[in-house]
Amino acid sequence: MTKHQNPIDPALIEAINGPKDVAKTGKRCLMNRRQFLLTSGITTFTVMVALKAGPASAQVPAVVSTYERKLIGKLSELKEDEPLDFTYPDEGAYSESMLVKLGREAGGGIGPDKDVVAFNYTCTHQGGPLQGTYKSEDKVLGPCPLHLTTFDLTRHGIFISGQAYQSLPQVLLEVDGDDIYAVGMFGLIYGRYDNLKG
Ligand code: FES
Repeated sequence: MTKHQNPIDPALIEAINGPKDVAKTGKRCLMNRRQFLLTSGITTFTVMVALKAGPASAQVPAVVSTYERKLIGKLSELKEDEPLDFTYPDEGAYSESMLVKLGREAGGGIGPDKDVVAFNYTCTHQGGPLQGTYKSEDKVLGPCPLHLTTFDLTRHGIFISGQAYQSLPQVLLEVDGDDIYAVGMFGLIYGRYDNLKG
């Protein structure tokens, strides 16, 4: 590998951290060259991701899985704070997910304002359903109906209160013109071994 080559697919880093963080985060990833070569197909690996915590930024390890991309919506049809439901990465258990335009820049956000994000709906604590819990004033999902965990959608789904100790899995997105595609998962879906197998 020459020193001019990025050790990770920039498109993947962009999907996680947003376009402006590609240069900053690309060199911090833990992927080796073999893992890098595998990212064109379905695979799972660990990367270090910059996570903002107030004014500071911390590096945290995260499981990332890439899949065949799936068309889930159109930028022009999204209305601020009105979530659209879809399933990903398949139609199986715990695949229910939501796409939302937050109206506020977010980690992994796409679109002109970097405010369009997508998350799995299943609470990472004990699988509580988070459908219908989006709070537009705080840009969160929750509180979970089982033990009250709330997840911050502007910061990669990090938990901000309650019983869970893992972030809500974020669906990685790409834009192609007006089309929004799901391309992978950032974090492990509750109840699944590797996001594909229950
Ligand atoms: S299942 Fe959601 S907080 Fe326990």
